[in-house]
Amino acid sequence: MPHIWPIGGGKGGSGKSFLASSMGRLLSKSGRKTLLIDLDLGAANLHTMVDVPYPEKCFSDFISRKVADLNDAVLPTPFPNLFLISGAHDSLDIANLPYEKKIKTLKSIAKLKYDYIILDLGAGTAFNTLDFFLASRNGIFITTPEPTSIENVYRLMRAIYLRRIRHYFSATDFKSLEKKTKEHLGDDSFNKPENIVSVVKTEYPEKYALIKKDFGDFRFKLILNQLRKQDNLVLGEQICKIIKKHLGINVEFAGNIAYDEHVHDAICQRVCFLDRYPHTKAANDLRVLNKKMSNAFGEQMMLNYL
Ligand SMILES: Nc1ncnc2c1ncn2[C@@H]1O[C@H](COP(=O)(O)OP(=O)(O)OP(=O)(O)O)[C@@H](O)[C@H]1O
Ligand SMILES: [Mg+2]
Repeated sequence: MPHIWPIGGGKGGSGKSFLASSMGRLLSKSGRKTLLIDLDLGAANLHTMVDVPYPEKCFSDFISRKVADLNDAVLPTPFPNLFLISGAHDSLDIANLPYEKKIKTLKSIAKLKYDYIILDLGAGTAFNTLDFFLASRNGIFITTPEPTSIENVYRLMRAIYLRRIRHYFSATDFKSLEKKTKEHLGDDSFNKPENIVSVVKTEYPEKYALIKKDFGDFRFKLILNQLRKQDNLVLGEQICKIIKKHLGINVEFAGNIAYDEHVHDAICQRVCFLDRYPHTKAANDLRVLNKKMSNAFGEQMMLNYL
């Protein structure tokens, strides 16, 4: 089974696609057969970062059954061992995939014969993004040090948490959980996971045990991107502590990636940043992160609906 690394960040421009393409390049360079999937449905651009200017096939060809097998939507890239399923021609209606179809798609992704599969997700907290992020326990969050970006990544984590809790309830039970939470803790209490979990704990103890175990198994990581010299180097660790305190989720701080003007230059020249500027601090940060993450994640663990 492939290692699946979904990459999510609440805000556009935080560096999801840059990280996805860089991790893809590093993994493939070390001999691992790696597939990048652009799931930023409706705003896909990952192909440009791996020098595939005109993707002939894309993810929606599989969704619309133009190709029967997801393997038939895979494109080669100029880099050995690195492959791509582009999202380039995906239309906006695919941005609202029905749940059943999404689960089927996730199952097809999990069956693909690759060592690593990296999912580049869209910004925001759309259900697609949450469900694709939850495809694996090894999700990676990325944010810049700007408060707006941190707020959005926090919102994304919270939404993922809620989405996962929702998974354990039928529609009727979830409605009744909402009602009970509001009765106990006030009308605006249902958007806070800690409130919901406290009600689950008393009202649905058997589900609480499952949810607790589930979240204990997550191996989520946080990466801080575009750090300038003057930025707080331990900000990432501080964010993880706050998340643990408020959401009860263990997110491990994986490391920083320095801000570097050359990233912009490489993207404009449509060349791989790591190949063109290997001696920069940002390139070194990416290599360190890649090594750390490919060691740390260990065995792939899939969520129980896959
Ligand atoms: N470490 C970095 N140093 C300098 N610039 C960076 C760095 N990382 C990303 N950028 C800049 O940020 C821009 C946005 O990055 P990227 O496209 O990866 O973000 P994204 O999170 O995928 O955005 P979207 O949600 O819009 O797809 C890049 O075009 C690049 O110019
Ligand atoms: Mg992107």
